[in-house]
Amino acid sequence: MSDLISQLQHILRRKCLLGQSRLPLSEQNRALLQVRLLEPRPQAKESAPPQTARTAPPALSASAPAPAPVAAPALRPLPPLQQLGWDELEQAMRTCQACALYQTRQHVVCGGGFRQSRLMFIGEGPGAEEDRQGRVFVGRAGEMLNNMIKAMGFDREAQNPEHGVYIANILKCRPPQNRNPLEGEAQACLPFVQRQIELLQPELIVLLGGVALKYLLGLTGITKLRGNWLEYRGIPVMPTFHPAYLLRFERQKNLFVNEKRKVWHDLQLVMQRLAPPGA
Ligand code: URA
Repeated sequence: MSDLISQLQHILRRKCLLGQSRLPLSEQNRALLQVRLLEPRPQAKESAPPQTARTAPPALSASAPAPAPVAAPALRPLPPLQQLGWDELEQAMRTCQACALYQTRQHVVCGGGFRQSRLMFIGEGPGAEEDRQGRVFVGRAGEMLNNMIKAMGFDREAQNPEHGVYIANILKCRPPQNRNPLEGEAQACLPFVQRQIELLQPELIVLLGGVALKYLLGLTGITKLRGNWLEYRGIPVMPTFHPAYLLRFERQKNLFVNEKRKVWHDLQLVMQRLAPPGA
């Protein structure tokens, strides 16, 4: 019986790491697992070392020692965020355990930039480099975003209303292997970016890619919707392609130029709509 439990635990653990949360179980297996899951186990620690999705699982064999019981992540709902200022909000992000990604993250990536900026960019979620450094858009997609921001006459290092921007993501923790966020992960994290928008009150928001579009506005179809003005709680929103999407075409010069041109078109609409500061 313990072999069967070990095997089920092993399969579940692999599925969890791949972001799959469902495993069809027979009644009998379900009952066996329930017995094990109800056993007391040590509390998961905030500073538990990051699990890596790349770690080879132990081989299954009849004589192998039973792996440690599956630690179903201990999740904690978010506290109310409505009253939080910037620093308290970031503190809430750093201690967040609202979805299982807290178990695999190296750093929470809160977002950053000028906190009174008129222009906000919202991406999808941290990649490997962002997770390593704890900073938003610092990988290759980040380089491309920096170039786009510079071309618009802004500067992500600037701390003034004329040139400053604020950059955030829908997700604050990296999904293993850069997979797309699960619905539950994105929904659990959404209140953070919503509060960031509330605090920033930007004049305009640029949504980078389909994931940002889906979770902030509940819309799908970035290819069709990019370049069209949308709205989030009264704030004009311009959806455009994610810089990582553009990078996919880097080696196909014509396509690359073509797709970049579309993004540039969208960003020009943003620049036209942004009134001069103080106007
Ligand atoms: N892609 C994103 O959407 N956000 C980042 O921070 C980095 C890459």
